[in-house]
Parts: sequence; structure tokens; C-alpha cells
Amino acid sequence: MIITVGGTKGGSGKTTVATNVAIFLAEQGRKVLLVDADEQETSADFTEFRHDTFEGFVGYTLVKLNGDKIYTSIRDLGEVFSDVVIDTGGRDTISQRASLTVSDVYLVPFVPRSFEMWTLAKVEKLVKEVRLINPKLKSFSVLNRVEARSQYVESWMEYLKASEDIEFLDAQLGDRVVYSHAAIRGMGINEYKPKDATAIREFTDFLQKLMERVQNSKQV
Ligand SMILES: Nc1ncnc2c1ncn2[C@@H]1O[C@H](COP(=O)(O)OP(=O)(O)OP(=O)(O)O)[C@@H](O)[C@H]1O
Ligand SMILES: [Mg+2]
Repeated sequence: MIITVGGTKGGSGKTTVATNVAIFLAEQGRKVLLVDADEQETSADFTEFRHDTFEGFVGYTLVKLNGDKIYTSIRDLGEVFSDVVIDTGGRDTISQRASLTVSDVYLVPFVPRSFEMWTLAKVEKLVKEVRLINPKLKSFSVLNRVEARSQYVESWMEYLKASEDIEFLDAQLGDRVVYSHAAIRGMGINEYKPKDATAIREFTDFLQKLMERVQNSKQV
């Protein structure tokens, strides 16, 4: 399966989600390729920290790709790996569009804060345009960095659920410090100690729901 984690908003948690998805899938024994398609190269930096922390045992393969090279490279590499996870930058770039033309799944994290509202329409437009070239693309939104007792979450969920182009994934990732503590060491949240059992449970639930919904989605 080829998953692009993207959107048109910076800092929504794309790299955090992409790196953890890669690590969780690799832990299940799957052969994972993590593609850093963002010129900021955060997934590549993360993987360097990981290389140091685990003395070379990264568990997945990382490549840096950008622009239209993504299209040709992923078509070939997709055959070799069980899963390809592509981390894109927070803008509508050639890299993000090239990734989407070869992807099965588009996953868009949204942080439930007021300004993010404006980006949903842009992402819907992008999905519509890409589907002209790649009609099999399945798109999902997920709430990330949800604060405990946030009064806005309900209305945010309703807003995302109303989208006709992007399916809302009913799994929330909370705003939890373990994400940044783990990231600076190149670790998945399942590897960091002391363990944050709630964060791990949320992420496991999210990934399982994503896989189920990809299988059962009526999109396409
Ligand atoms: N669920 C979460 N809980 C707490 N912190 C989080 C969570 N998700 C992401 N973060 C933090 O938010 C910041 C931005 O996350 P990240 O770098 O993954 O976003 P991004 O969408 O990849 O950003 P960019 O658009 O710059 O590529 C990071 O400091 C990260 O540790
Ligand atoms: Mg990023």
C-alpha cells in the first residue's frame, strides 16, 4: 500500500504521523519504505537520529525524493516494499501531487484550531484534481494534537465528516509530549520510555481503523 501523508497546512503533524506509521508497520514485520518528499527533510533528519539511537538498526528504508522523480521512482519501488509511506511538505507542491498520482491512500492530519478550517476546501480541490489522473485514490482526514477537554472538537468532527471528498477517520491522536520526546531521538512513540500507554493505544487504534477503512471504503 502506498500512503501519502499530506495537506496544505504546515505543522499539522505530517512527519510525526508518517514516521510513526512507518515504525508501527515495520514492527509488524512489514517491509517499509519511508519517502521524504519534503525539502525540509525532516523525515530524513529523524531517520539519522534513529540511526544513532539504534546503532544502525532503523527498521525501514528511507529515500529522499522530490518533484516528478517521485512518480517514476515510487511506481518501481512500490513493487519491492509491502508499504510505502510518503511524507510531504505542507503546501500544494509538485512533490505532493506526484506522490498522490501513485498513491492508494491520502491521509491528511488536521489540528483542531480555528485557522485550519480554511485548508479543508483546498485539500478537497486537490483531491478532486488528482482523482482525474488517479481515480483509485482514497482520502482520509484525522484529528491530531487534540487537547483534553477541548470544546471545539465536536464541531470540528462535524465539519470534517461533512466532506464529500475526504472520509473522516474516527480516531483521534491526542496532544501528547511523547511525540516530541520520541522524535528527537528518532524513536516511534511505541519505543520511547517511560511508555505513554494512552498515546500508544490511540495510535494503534488509528492505524487499525485506517487499514480497515482502506479495505472497506466505498470511495473510488
Ligand atoms: N499528537 C501530537 N502531540 C504533540 N505534539 C505533536 C503531535 N503531532 C505533532 N506534534 C508536534 O508538532 C510539531 C509539528 O509536527 P510535524 O513536524 O510532524 O508537522 P508537519 O506537518 O510535518 O510540519 P511541516 O509542515 O513543517 O512538515 C512537532 O514539534 C511535533 O513534535
Ligand atoms: Mg513535516
